[in-house]
Amino acid sequence: MEEKEFYEQIKDWNFDEFQIETEDFTNWDMFEILKSVTDENSRILDLGTGGGEKVIKYFPEYAKEIIATDFSKAMIETANENLKKSGRKNITFRIMDNLNMDVPKEYFDVVVARNTPSCPKQIFECLKPGGFLIIHGVDKYDCYNLKKSYGKGQAYDDSTPISIIDYNAVIEAGFEDAELVPLHQREYFKNENLFYKFMLKVPILEEFSEEDEGVKDFYINELDKDKIHEYVLKNTYDKGIRLLRRYYGITARKAK
Ligand SMILES: C[S@@+](CC[C@H](N)C(=O)[O-])C[C@H]1O[C@@H](n2cnc3c(N)ncnc32)[C@H](O)[C@@H]1O
Repeated sequence: MEEKEFYEQIKDWNFDEFQIETEDFTNWDMFEILKSVTDENSRILDLGTGGGEKVIKYFPEYAKEIIATDFSKAMIETANENLKKSGRKNITFRIMDNLNMDVPKEYFDVVVARNTPSCPKQIFECLKPGGFLIIHGVDKYDCYNLKKSYGKGQAYDDSTPISIIDYNAVIEAGFEDAELVPLHQREYFKNENLFYKFMLKVPILEEFSEEDEGVKDFYINELDKDKIHEYVLKNTYDKGIRLLRRYYGITARKAK
C-alpha cells in the first residue's frame, strides 16, 4: 500500500479516543510560536493538515487567511466536515501535494508543517520576505524500544536522523536563523487495548523514511500482538503504558 492510500483509509488524524496522557520535557510549543509571529494581517499555510484537527483548534482566529492542504482527498473531506462543525471562517482546505506545491510565490507570512513531509525550498518560494517557517516532526528515535523489538519502523534504518535531514534542507533552501530543538515527550496509555489500537492507527511501525522515500508493508488491520504484549509488560508504570516520543521542532525565517 502506498503512503497516500494509507491516509485515504485512515481519513482523520484525531486521537481523542485513545485518552493519552502526555508529559512534556520542553516548553517548545509550535502553536504559541505561531501566535507570536502572526497578527490580523497574516496569511498562514498549513501543510499536510490531516482532518484539520490542529488547524481548527489551535491556529489563530484573528489571522486574515489560513489555507490548509493535504494530498489525501479523504482527509480534506473530513477537514471540511470538521470546519462546518467548528463555525470557523478564516480557514480554507484544499488538496495539494507538499512535495509539488501549487501556491503563489511570496504569498504567505507563515508556513507550518506538522508531522508531514515538506520541501523547504518550495516553502521558501511561497513565503513573503521576512516570512516564518515552523516544522514539527517525528524523529528517528521515536518509540525506539518498540521499533527495536519489531526490528523495523518509521525511519528505523535511516543513517541520518530525519531532524538533521530536515534542518540541512532548511538551511540549504536559504532560510536564516534556523533553530532545531529536540522535543522529548512521554505518553501514557490506560490499557493494552487502547495502546494496540493506537499502534494500528499510526505509522510508527511502518517501514518508511524520508531518506529513501521507501514504503513497504503498510498495515491497517493487525500487528503482532505478542510483541505488543511483551512491550506492555516491560513498560507499564503507575501512570500507564509508557511510550517515549522523540519529536523535533524547527523554526526559521526568510530574510526581509
Ligand atoms: C501524521 S498526519 C499529520 C496531520 C496534521 N498535520 C497533524 O499534525 O495533526 C500526516 C498528514 O500528512 C499528509 N501527507 C503525507 N504526505 C503528504 C504529501 N506529500 N503531501 C501532502 N500531504 C501529505 C497525510 O495525508 C496526513 O494527513
